[in-house]
Amino acid sequence: MIHIRPLSGDQSVPMDLLLLADPSKEKVLTYVQSGSCYVAYHEQDVIGVYVLLSLSQQTVEIINVAVKESWQGKGIGKQLIRHAIAEAKAAGFHTVEIGTGNSSIQQLALYQKCGFRMISIDHDFFLKHYDEPIFENGIQCMDMVRLSLTLQAD
Ligand code: COA
Repeated sequence: MIHIRPLSGDQSVPMDLLLLADPSKEKVLTYVQSGSCYVAYHEQDVIGVYVLLSLSQQTVEIINVAVKESWQGKGIGKQLIRHAIAEAKAAGFHTVEIGTGNSSIQQLALYQKCGFRMISIDHDFFLKHYDEPIFENGIQCMDMVRLSLTLQAD
């Protein structure tokens, strides 16, 4: 049983988890300041995190989602994405976006299983914005695949 809650003001951000999804500490520090950070707990342990960042009045982005390595593959990532969608809807947004690398096969599967559709590709995003080359699943991560989910009013 896990609990997902907004990070309270006196808690530090789970940087080790956030860095699993984004290797740039500088970028993470920038968006956690302007976004809303939610944390998944198992008892007292922080086992997952996501960050919502509004892009406009209509659209919010899940800018980071990560699950502690020893907890991956147990459905926590899906719970975090579903929680983020529910929070976005409750806050009155119309669309949720998420971006991931062309090489992030598992993430592309997860987001589509949660209802996201591919909308665009930001070519060379990871070549332009990250100093070190990134490889996953034997594929170089070069392009950002952008996905979106339209929220239906009840
Ligand atoms: N093909 C098809 N489905 C796949 C798959 C593949 N290659 N790899 C994973 N999946 C599916 C799983 O089967 C599961 O679907 P199901 O519930 O229908 O079986 C779904 O993806 C999600 O699994 P879940 O256990 O909820 O994911 P998780 O808890 O391991 O969290 C991440 C997923 C990506 C958040 C986690 O692996 C992580 O923290 N990775 C490092 C950080 C990261 O890359 N973040 C995203 C940045 S874009």
